[in-house]
Amino acid sequence: MLSIEKYQEAFLSFLNAYTKSSVAKEPKGLYEPIAYILNLGGKRLRPVLTLMTADIFGGHHKEALPAAASVEVFHNFTLVHDDIMDDAPLRRGHTTVHEKWDINTGILSGDTMLILTYQLLEDYEPGVYKALSKLLSKTAIEVCEGQQYDVDFENRNDVTIPEYLKMIEYKTSVLVAAAMKMGAIIAGASEQDQDYIYEFGRHLGIAFQLQDDYLDAFGNPETFGKQVGGDIIENKKTYLYLKALEFASENERSRLVKLFNSETDKTDEKVFVVKELFKTTGASEATKQAVEDYTKKAFAALEHLNISKDKKQLLIDFGNGLMRRSV
Ligand code: IPE
Ligand code: IPE
Ligand code: MG
Ligand code: MG
Ligand code: MG
Repeated sequence: MLSIEKYQEAFLSFLNAYTKSSVAKEPKGLYEPIAYILNLGGKRLRPVLTLMTADIFGGHHKEALPAAASVEVFHNFTLVHDDIMDDAPLRRGHTTVHEKWDINTGILSGDTMLILTYQLLEDYEPGVYKALSKLLSKTAIEVCEGQQYDVDFENRNDVTIPEYLKMIEYKTSVLVAAAMKMGAIIAGASEQDQDYIYEFGRHLGIAFQLQDDYLDAFGNPETFGKQVGGDIIENKKTYLYLKALEFASENERSRLVKLFNSETDKTDEKVFVVKELFKTTGASEATKQAVEDYTKKAFAALEHLNISKDKKQLLIDFGNGLMRRSV
């Protein structure tokens, strides 16, 4: 096993070579945005999980590098299209692809990235290739379903917490889970182990998206890398919002609902007022608590796994690190 930093390094050197050989091509209008988003940084959480999981189940992380890259390219594809859908100006502290170029560029470069995702798996032997691409297709369709729910919820006033949890499971956590299962597949882990590591990733992914929602409102604009308050501006029905409605007084509830149902140019004011309501109702504390609860649920899935204590500890450290993150 390596340290998390070493997995990151191994991944970045693979990605670097990959973008130089496969993405630096003509026409520039198609490939430059792909290289731009892939080299913009990011936490590289999913590929690191793929590599770590391959080692955890007795494989070698080097064998998992193309799959790790596949997962990261897929993730970046979803970000390019998500930023169009969310009208987001900023990604990882830089201008989003559709703002730096235009929406058509975001669409086509994004589509190409989705295809590169599959191409990256082509050199695995047939059995492994089939298992990986099957998992990827199932996951990708679920991500699209989650994204559609997310958008549908913007215009609904009756979203429930279970509906919200289903939505984030699909748009975010299944990819985290699949990233880990891919590592397990490459290492030849038993189906039971593959399922338990998927469960770990699924709960960790839910905690991760809850934290993403929290940071979208309460992150530090200097370091967060995305537009703080973007979810509020877009009327996203996040956990913060749903819990605020649940805890609010009659008066607070009607103010919140009104703010999320009317067009305004005064977005700074809207963000300020909504954040105050998130705090005073106790929704922000409840969200932090939910992040912790889902992280603990992830850790509980580890108990079933037949791996050493050291390996479990590495996953626990990773989960705790994510819970404490500020970007
Ligand atoms: C952002 O993912 C999209 C979500 C699913 C919340 P990350 O927070 O992993 O983004 P990067 O790759 O580190 O920028
Ligand atoms: C993103 O959810 C999920 C996917 C990209 C599939 P968000 O819309 O919350 O992600 P950010 O906050 O823009 O990174
Ligand atoms: Mg978004
Ligand atoms: Mg979104
Ligand atoms: Mg978000």
